[in-house]
Amino acid sequence: MVRAMSDDSGARLERLSGMLKRRGFILPAFEIHGGAKGLYDFGPNGGRLRNRVNQMWLNHWISMGNVSEISCPTITPYEVLEASGHVGEFSDFMTGCLSCEEVSRADTLLEDYHPNPDSLGKLELQELLNKSSPPCPFCGEKSWSDISAQNLMFNTKIGAGTSGRDGFLRPETAQGMFTSFPVLYRHFRERLPFGAIQIGKGYRNEISPRQGMIRLREFNMAELEYFIDPEASISHDFSSWSGVKLTMIGENEGEVLTSIVDAIKVGMVRHETVGFFIARTYEFLIGVGIDPSRVRFRQHESNEMAHYATDCWDAEIHGSYGWVECVGIAHRGCYDLEAHEKYTGKSLRARREFATPKEVVIDGWTTDSAVAGPAFRSLAGKVKLVVEELPSDTSFPLELSIEDQLVTIEQTHVKRVQRTDTLTGEWFIPHVIEPAFGIDRIIWHILDHAYDEIEKQGEKYTIMKLNPNVVPIDYVVLPLYEKDGMGEIAREINTMLNSRFGVVSSFDASGSIGRRYARADEIGVPVCITVDHQSVEDETVTIRTRDTGQQVRLKISEL
Ligand code: ATP
Ligand code: GLY
Repeated sequence: MVRAMSDDSGARLERLSGMLKRRGFILPAFEIHGGAKGLYDFGPNGGRLRNRVNQMWLNHWISMGNVSEISCPTITPYEVLEASGHVGEFSDFMTGCLSCEEVSRADTLLEDYHPNPDSLGKLELQELLNKSSPPCPFCGEKSWSDISAQNLMFNTKIGAGTSGRDGFLRPETAQGMFTSFPVLYRHFRERLPFGAIQIGKGYRNEISPRQGMIRLREFNMAELEYFIDPEASISHDFSSWSGVKLTMIGENEGEVLTSIVDAIKVGMVRHETVGFFIARTYEFLIGVGIDPSRVRFRQHESNEMAHYATDCWDAEIHGSYGWVECVGIAHRGCYDLEAHEKYTGKSLRARREFATPKEVVIDGWTTDSAVAGPAFRSLAGKVKLVVEELPSDTSFPLELSIEDQLVTIEQTHVKRVQRTDTLTGEWFIPHVIEPAFGIDRIIWHILDHAYDEIEKQGEKYTIMKLNPNVVPIDYVVLPLYEKDGMGEIAREINTMLNSRFGVVSSFDASGSIGRRYARADEIGVPVCITVDHQSVEDETVTIRTRDTGQQVRLKISEL
């Protein structure tokens, strides 16, 4: 076997995409109706592969011992995403071509004119667009409309008719995990740190999805929300990564090859738990078959971070589309729990005990619930929270805006609180560190990295060198012919493998043996088991290994 001549990467991408479609890995959805941009199917081979990647991801985090899986609805009431800041902030900047009227994301359009256009605000993007006049990717013309912000969430109505409530399809799984904090806190016996994980669909009405699986409008997200006490000392075990060097691009340091421990030590990674998740993310990616030499971690610039983040690292993977963000590891601070607490008036706090009790003089206010309850009704909880923060010298009546409503707090609504307490602990809002994985982008790169073309007898021959952890099919059992008892033996082996060993085996008797090996190689089956004439006589079979092509004979009983 000789390696194929090096080849234009666009043509390779076309062949890879064609094969993935033909072999039922990934393919455009609803194609018989003309398809829809940004929507893809996982076919019969892709579905199984995705399932294995998901399962590995779940096991990877559950093995930490303090992480549990939950599942929340994808349909989300307006209020949840208003509280989280997504209604106001979850937008991309777009511009339209004045000639063909196709719209494009402004930052994508300007990638050749700035090292990181994602970090630019609207005015800076507008200036750069005016100065550089990039060609329209659809028609090549260079005149653009003014840049505007486009919210990426899909609107929906929850319920019929006029009683229907406004809602969205969730843009991330995370919010369900934040609103589930009270049940998680109880589940983990009120002890931090702990985590919730969730795999499910996320929806974003992306402005101009091109690049296949990289930019979808409905995609598979896998997120961990890890709740920590920001004041507790942290110690993670980094011993298994002491010899592992990662390519890391720090906001201030530029690109370095470093161990994660050193990156934390020099302050490049600002929080030890963020560093721990960077290392575990790397481990997961390698475990599902991503080429280690094509992974790097890049720190966000301060003005590039999402509205909730205080530090963020992306795991980027290199493939046919260049470097692509596949995982975002963000320190979300107390942003989300605080936002939901403020919005709902419901406590989303954890308790920390003091090493020695503290005497504190309390001098302030609380509400008199017998009077304030009927006066403020649904706002009473929020009014109480606000009143308890007021200084002791506040005078009443006091006008305040709560949830965009003007409320007047009278002297009769409040009670003075003056006492000395001995506190054994306090309630605080936990911080959250979040690794957010885009499963589709990871699967794309697993397939891209596994796709190997060699030259065999003058023709291109494809082997998907998939990691055995994620292959859609573990074994194919092939009778040389179906006659003379070979078909029966092969079927028996296939049934035995499927029913007893928790593996996926398939039976293939159609076409020449060479064609069947080629088919198995193309979908990445690691091992083929061939039943031939000799099998009928001595109960042995041939085991053929995908990556070496080597064949050995084994007794069926030793399989
Ligand atoms: P991008 O800058 O590429 O739009 P993002 O910064 O908006 O991505 P995040 O909000 O951090 O992405 O989402 C977490 C992960 O979800 C990403 O790392 C990526 O793998 C995945 N993801 C985000 N948007 C899409 C999409 N439209 N299609 C497929 N995967 C996506
Ligand atoms: N939950 C991370 C994100 O959607 O960006």
